[in-house]
Amino acid sequence: MLNIALPKGRLGDKVYRLFSEMGYDCPSINEDNRKLVFTNERNGVSYLLVKPSDVAIYVEHGAADVGVVGKDVLLEGGNDVYELMDLHLGKCRMAVAAPNDYVDDPNGILRVATKYPNIAKNYYRSLNREIDIIKLNGSIELAPILGLSDVIVDIVETGSTLRENNLKVVTEFLNISARFIANKSSFKFKSEIIEQMLSRLKEAVSHD
Ligand code: PRP
Repeated sequence: MLNIALPKGRLGDKVYRLFSEMGYDCPSINEDNRKLVFTNERNGVSYLLVKPSDVAIYVEHGAADVGVVGKDVLLEGGNDVYELMDLHLGKCRMAVAAPNDYVDDPNGILRVATKYPNIAKNYYRSLNREIDIIKLNGSIELAPILGLSDVIVDIVETGSTLRENNLKVVTEFLNISARFIANKSSFKFKSEIIEQMLSRLKEAVSHD
């Protein structure tokens, strides 16, 4: 049995459809219920639906053999897993954003609100810029509106959340997309089924 960790939500739905078309379907997953584990004995897969930010933790500790996770979460967590493939799904950018009328004072300490403190610290370290991090868990856009921070570091997909909150992109500094990852010992001991999955993924994923 291969345990696959999927991020609950839009990305997970897309990834499940892809895996299902590749022969790893598990019809019970489409039943409307609150179950978190779905197994198909026939093709030997079991799906675990987890919080997107937890996928790499399940995989690192071997609770899942493989998983799909955004590059943002992977960079932030620094988990010890194999990153096997870019799935070219869930594409977005990591950006610095600020209120429309914001003007940077390069001499001041910048107050940065984010869900991604490690990514933000690394980015500003590369610029030699001194910052204070305000770690939030969601609705980051509120922070500069309320004066809690000067800027935010967050993912931008369509840009509509920023627009609707009168914020603008200051700079985009990282392309993000979903990655197929594996637990290091699973990759050794379940190599046959993981390699098969990987080659089916390579056939199925378009590179547009
Ligand atoms: C993410 C991100 C932005 C939004 C960007 O939030 O934090 O708020 O999506 O998408 P857009 O550019 O298409 O508007 P998410 O939906 O993950 O919710 P969260 O605020 O709870 O983190």
